[in-house]
Amino acid sequence: MTPATPGAVCIVGTGAYLPARVLTNAELEKMVETSDEWIASRTGIRQRHIAAADEATSDMSAIAAQRALDAAGVEAMEVDLIVVATVTPDMPFPSTACFVQKKIGARKAFCFDIEAACSGFVYALDVGYRFLATGGAKTALIIGGEKLSSVTDWQDRTTCVLFGDGAGAVVLQTRKTGRGIIGTVAGSDGTLANLLQIPGGGSRHPSSAETIDKRLHFLKMQGNEVFKHAVRCMCDAAQQVLDRHGLKVEDVKWVIPHQANLRIIQAIAQRLGVGIERFCVNLDQVGNMSSASIPVALDEAVRAGRIQHGDLMLFVAFGGGFTWGATLLEWHHGK
Ligand code: UT7
Repeated sequence: MTPATPGAVCIVGTGAYLPARVLTNAELEKMVETSDEWIASRTGIRQRHIAAADEATSDMSAIAAQRALDAAGVEAMEVDLIVVATVTPDMPFPSTACFVQKKIGARKAFCFDIEAACSGFVYALDVGYRFLATGGAKTALIIGGEKLSSVTDWQDRTTCVLFGDGAGAVVLQTRKTGRGIIGTVAGSDGTLANLLQIPGGGSRHPSSAETIDKRLHFLKMQGNEVFKHAVRCMCDAAQQVLDRHGLKVEDVKWVIPHQANLRIIQAIAQRLGVGIERFCVNLDQVGNMSSASIPVALDEAVRAGRIQHGDLMLFVAFGGGFTWGATLLEWHHGK
């Protein structure tokens, strides 16, 4: 371990990738008994991107990662840590992060995946932050990548209208000035694991003709139960991270929430007392991309020039497990 570089751990570049194919609500109307009106009014989603059959999570993640490196002006050979947050890895092992390493040529990096469902990016960012803060790495790529279409039951209208594919990435480095990442709070509640899960394909129910027949390899969710917990846990996590660092909600310029449902985001805005215009929201275009949601929305906001140097930002997420977390950071531009 090399000594930690004094200074702030900052996001110095962002990148994203969305597959070309767009699936609209109108197309879903032809696949299951649903309507554009139901999907848009209950979720806010109007379309989502769907990966090609031969496009895996690492393919999308590698493109997002390269775009983040380009934005940061950092060479792949400088990267010494790659963490991919995903629930849809290319394979059970090796890690998707190892495949990304190969694709971008980051030969000096050590690589692993994190599985914290839709909170994955917040968890992975915290892990990357800690490696940099303690000198375990100098340049980290933190990626959220998902091919949720591969675990979506296209016959189940209660879930298939919600999800999309894509990847987002950030480059972390230490800078001498600014605050960068200020801190993260995270939590989990395994007693509620049954409300959102893919039951089959693991060691509990290894893939078999029976698990396929029972459709256990698809994502299952009790949406309305998840909804209630999502609002409560994300509000609590946001307030806790602010309290821990002596900051107030009025200090926050931008909130980037996990993009599961516009009604969840509106409820959080109302409970926290933050105007909805301060939330970066893109789920109407991309749906719920699990761990890719926050980094893709971040990249979009950064490239649109919405985020200014010194802006205080809050990332907040909730997902299966249950898991949740919130990260506070001060945005940093330039070297
Ligand atoms: O990303 C990880 C975390 N995930 C989340 O945070 C998702 C949280 N949950 C949600 O976003 C919402 O609960 C959903 C969007 C999944 C569902 O919305 P809801 O308002 O909670 O609806 P519901 O599940 O209570 O269902 C209401 C009705 C039901 O019909 P009945 O029983 O009232 O006759 C459903 O069968 O809506 C029906 N329904 C649909 N109708 C048309 C469910 N899905 C559809 C659909 N099209 N696609």
